Amino acid sequence: MESSLAMFLYPLLLSLSLSLFVFLLLRATAGRRRRLPPGNLGLPFLGETLQLISAYKTENPEPFIDDRVSKYGAVFTTHVFGEPTVFSADPDTNRFILQNEGRLFESSYPGSISNLLGRHSLLLMRGSLHKRMHSLTMSFANSAIIRDHLLLDIDRLVRLNMDAWTGRVLLMEEAKKITFQLTVKQLMSFDPCEWTENLMKEYMLVIEGFFTIPLPIFSTTYRRAIQARGKVAEALSLVVRERRRESERGERKNDMLAALLDEEGGGGGFSDEEIVDFMLALLVAGYETTSTIMTLAVKHLTETPLALAQLKEEHDEIRARKVEEEAALEWEDYKSMPFTQCVVNETLRVANIISGVFRRAMTDVTIKDGYTIPKGWKVFASLRAVHMDHHHFKDARTFNPWRWQNSSGTSNNSMNVFTPFGGGPRRCPGAELARVELSVFLHRLVTQFSWMPAEQDKVIFFPTTRTQKRYPIIVRRLEPVEAM
Ligand code: HEM
Repeated sequence: MESSLAMFLYPLLLSLSLSLFVFLLLRATAGRRRRLPPGNLGLPFLGETLQLISAYKTENPEPFIDDRVSKYGAVFTTHVFGEPTVFSADPDTNRFILQNEGRLFESSYPGSISNLLGRHSLLLMRGSLHKRMHSLTMSFANSAIIRDHLLLDIDRLVRLNMDAWTGRVLLMEEAKKITFQLTVKQLMSFDPCEWTENLMKEYMLVIEGFFTIPLPIFSTTYRRAIQARGKVAEALSLVVRERRRESERGERKNDMLAALLDEEGGGGGFSDEEIVDFMLALLVAGYETTSTIMTLAVKHLTETPLALAQLKEEHDEIRARKVEEEAALEWEDYKSMPFTQCVVNETLRVANIISGVFRRAMTDVTIKDGYTIPKGWKVFASLRAVHMDHHHFKDARTFNPWRWQNSSGTSNNSMNVFTPFGGGPRRCPGAELARVELSVFLHRLVTQFSWMPAEQDKVIFFPTTRTQKRYPIIVRRLEPVEAM
């Protein structure tokens, strides 16, 4: 045991000493060689990581960026999570970073996330393969597919879950269940069953490992996540194998897996391992984000009763047009929810589920104002900083869905700087799907229930954006809306 500990510790100490040396070297030479954006590299190793984490663990993380922007400007240098990082709160620089994906910058995720996702996940792919897989993903989550195919499933699964709601409900947990089931259905046509429930349990363990130190010896959570990843991959492999057999018999389902297996669907030629990694990452990308936005939309609406009343009126009108009480939502209904779209935009703007994206400079890159980002440095394009900036959004830190109804609440270029789904070649392929899922969820919620918070809960932003207590609410079922 002792010798294995020593085997592990010596290389660790060696690499820490090397990092210290590199850090000091960077500090000494970086400013001289090129014009770095101004800023502070902080302490050796730690840099400003602790300041960032402690700010993002509160309800108001803004001071971390505000203080530095007022001292150094919208693009500044810092040192977080073990690396010197150029931090951008500037929309032009963010756009430049996102658009130059694959040319000047490449995506860069922490070791824990990339190990758990698997190397064939879309988030880690590069070059022409990334381009092909990104458009394949888009083709399975675009408006036409949602209209003709997915909307019905979304509505059905939302209703199915809400039918079981009584009394106290942990909204975040319920939203997760819904979005997990939706993603599994969209990927491989499974309806909720014991198998999907078990898959979800393992999945949660994988996600818990994302923000740990990726060393099994140090972190039980990471060890558990690696084991759970193995189980998820095994379960998905079985499905892939079965589907290959079905495909040989000429059977074809209408889902993402079919598209991956089938040359006509733009796929074909992938190994089982590639398909499993790909699906595993799509499940992560699709379900955690959308369930959080659902929860935060409800929280903001609960705290803004006028907005909730207006939203409810819009949805009651849609229900009243239906002859049957339980009739499914149709595409035309979705298209007649203008205020809901304001609520969706505003929730995306203030919630900032993905607060920004990490990239790595592939070469020395000259940016706005003549600053240089040195090759190999990390870059963080902060979407949150722009969305929370009063120069781009009047009273930026207030939830105000009405700002999207006319241009007076937003500056002229607000739409250009509104990027909750990122931009460039890695722009979220699930953007439209997320909007539809949230709209349907809100429709069913406000037409079927009234609710109130069961206790005080607050939003925090590290390691991910979420409410501390999973937003417990007390629900009361409403009488159905009378048809007009
Ligand atoms: C409110 C919900 C969502 C938000 C805020 C969101 C946000 C984002 C953002 C900002 C990115 C860009 C990451 C980067 O540039 O590195 C992204 C990428 C991605 N999103 Fe979403 N997303 C959401 C929902 C979804 C859904 C429902 C899906 C399912 C199809 C999805 C699938 C993906 C995938 C696969 C990527 C990686 C794209 C790539 O690297 O090429 N997302 N998302």
